[in-house]
Amino acid sequence: MAEKARIAILISGRGSNMAALVYAAKSSDCPYEIVLVASNVPDAPGLTLAHAEQIDIFAHPHKGLSREAHDTIMHDAIVRSGAEYVVLAGYMRILSDGFVRKWADHMLNIHPSLLPKYKGLDTYQRAIDAGDKVAGCSVHLVTAELDDGPVLAQTEVAILPDDDADSLASRILIAEHQLYPSALASYVTREAHPDWILEQVRQRALALEETHERLSFGSPGWRVGGEKTGKYFAYFTQRLHGEASIGLLVKTTGIDEQTALIDADPDLYYAPKFYGKSGWIAIRLDTGQTDWDHIADWLRKSWQMVAPRRLTRLSEIADQF
Ligand code: GRF
Repeated sequence: MAEKARIAILISGRGSNMAALVYAAKSSDCPYEIVLVASNVPDAPGLTLAHAEQIDIFAHPHKGLSREAHDTIMHDAIVRSGAEYVVLAGYMRILSDGFVRKWADHMLNIHPSLLPKYKGLDTYQRAIDAGDKVAGCSVHLVTAELDDGPVLAQTEVAILPDDDADSLASRILIAEHQLYPSALASYVTREAHPDWILEQVRQRALALEETHERLSFGSPGWRVGGEKTGKYFAYFTQRLHGEASIGLLVKTTGIDEQTALIDADPDLYYAPKFYGKSGWIAIRLDTGQTDWDHIADWLRKSWQMVAPRRLTRLSEIADQF
């Protein structure tokens, strides 16, 4: 299994979500490990638990410090732990912009509402007062605005006729404990998800001139030229024809180039079934080490081979500058 993602959890209190993450991480196939639990509250009950579970802990009260100064202390402790991700679990501090920027796309939070509804506090009572039939919880990326970053996952929780804020909160908490570990696991492994990989290819293929996407035998492909006369310059393949990998098919100059590429780097290149004889080459995209600039270069080269002359001429001229 690939190396586990290293996680620092920030808490201010009880730490039940932290506990859920800690216990999920004990399973051998969990893609993350908890390397630090840190708090702004030195006697937060969650720290005692983390310590008993042999996880490094760190605490520094915020009293008397500016927001920036306290965040810097926390940031330094997180960096020292080697964590790549910061996971907020009941961390009752508004974070400085600088801290949020440093952990952009690497910091998650859990919030007890179905965002974008009910940001901030008192979410349960607000949902009940509004007469909602369902409440729930959301895991989201942390951005500068409070509870506003892209939502990664949500669980709906039914509101019962005689629910009060406490009874609803305790049911939502059960849902949180299920949601957070699984949302974190899929986030840290996102670069292995076919959808994420496809999106990377798509952005680069459609950035080329006069291109559009069309399915070809169920697989996304990209064509250059008009809707009617356009030609394919790339296909995305996902475990097609019993092949073991996710790959990108692009055009080479022919069988010789195809053979040379496979000889030179057999872990990266392979001859795609059915297309191989016509000189298309498959590039593996699921090695976890994809060089996306290299993929963009391949897409351009392949585009150039099939694009109408009027387009390639312009790009040749541009290449000279
Ligand atoms: C949870 O309700 C969570 O949604 C919110 O803070 C609470 C933390 O609880 N962000 P715990 O400390 O994880 O038990």
